[in-house]
Amino acid sequence: MFSARTRWSLAENELAKARQQRDRLGLPLFDLTESNPTRCGFDYDENEVVTAFQNRQILQYGPDARGLYSARLAVMEYYADRGVDLQSEQIFLTASTSEAYSFIFRLLCDVGDSVLAPRPGYPLLDYLASLNDLVVQGYPLHYDGRWQIDRDALASGPGERSRVLLVVHPNNPTGSFVHPEEADYLARLCAERGMALIADEVFADYAHPSSAVPVRSFAKENRVLTFTLSGLSKTSGLPQMKCAWMVVTGPPGARCEAIARMEVIADTYLSVSTPVALALPSLLGLRRSIGPQIHGRVLSNLALLDQQLEAALPISRLHIEGGWYAILRLPRLSSDEDWALVFLREEGVMVHPGHFYDFADDGYVVLSLLPRPEVFAAGVKKLFAQVLARC
Ligand SMILES: Cc1ncc(COP(=O)(O)O)c(C=O)c1O
Repeated sequence: MFSARTRWSLAENELAKARQQRDRLGLPLFDLTESNPTRCGFDYDENEVVTAFQNRQILQYGPDARGLYSARLAVMEYYADRGVDLQSEQIFLTASTSEAYSFIFRLLCDVGDSVLAPRPGYPLLDYLASLNDLVVQGYPLHYDGRWQIDRDALASGPGERSRVLLVVHPNNPTGSFVHPEEADYLARLCAERGMALIADEVFADYAHPSSAVPVRSFAKENRVLTFTLSGLSKTSGLPQMKCAWMVVTGPPGARCEAIARMEVIADTYLSVSTPVALALPSLLGLRRSIGPQIHGRVLSNLALLDQQLEAALPISRLHIEGGWYAILRLPRLSSDEDWALVFLREEGVMVHPGHFYDFADDGYVVLSLLPRPEVFAAGVKKLFAQVLARC
């Protein structure tokens, strides 16, 4: 009765089971995977959020496949602040970045084609690809003091059916930006192999001050057909608004054809609601107050983590350049899954094992840097105590 593409294993993993058991018993949880900003105690200007929707124009329906012009204008200004000049025609609003991925996959790929995606990487990409009948070919990022694209492995990856090269800039969970010389290489590779680029920049506003990389948006890329994605969920810390966008750039011929075809796809769904599109200029403006709060939290939690690391020799933290996550390398006494289970069962500390993100090696766990400081500090302390007790 069901499609082969939904033949997932629906059994709960051990970590989810252990968490549910704790919840049932009413035991405390130090959730170091929390990355929903609306649950992390940030001070949202509630009046401004609510007022953004008090607009009598919500009573009218004037559909536009790309999304309301006033909203796209706000997105254009967002990029203009980053030194990127766009035309409103190059922007499409979507209900989420996930939806933008799906639209692009439908535009570029046929059943069974493949997309190249970074490993370690964002786990949802596998679902998005398989729901669109595509295959993900992972290309490795390797770590030697900083994460870099393994160019040899990448160059040997694309085959006849590879249509899209995907980058996450900065990547989730490695926090690594695509460096300018890597971006040049990727553009050359895509041009040679006839692939388009997708750049997911949802975390691009969260570059760490210690990062020496100049953050250049892929929305500036004109050498190959490129789709740059972002949205309110990270930029303004408003995932509940369900509003994102894509920017289409590239050589004029391919770009115009892509925009014309994308318009038909977007027109088929018209999925962004009028109220949120009307509110988008104000909601995007909220990044000026929320962005610094989120950034401040990420940096202060990271500083706290580093402080505790000084006294926890068998644990080290991998270098990050941006984003909301930190990666810890643990002693190889157990698998990453077993470490995560020990932290949860013994201490009530929840972290993600590296294998969720397809790390090439065992022994890594991923922490969100968003939790409230008191939760983060207590969770990290307990996690470190557990590791030290076992070494
Ligand atoms: C790399 C990446 N892209 C996209 C998203 C989600 O964006 P949206 O809420 O717009 O679908 C996430 C969420 O964590 C993410 O990590």
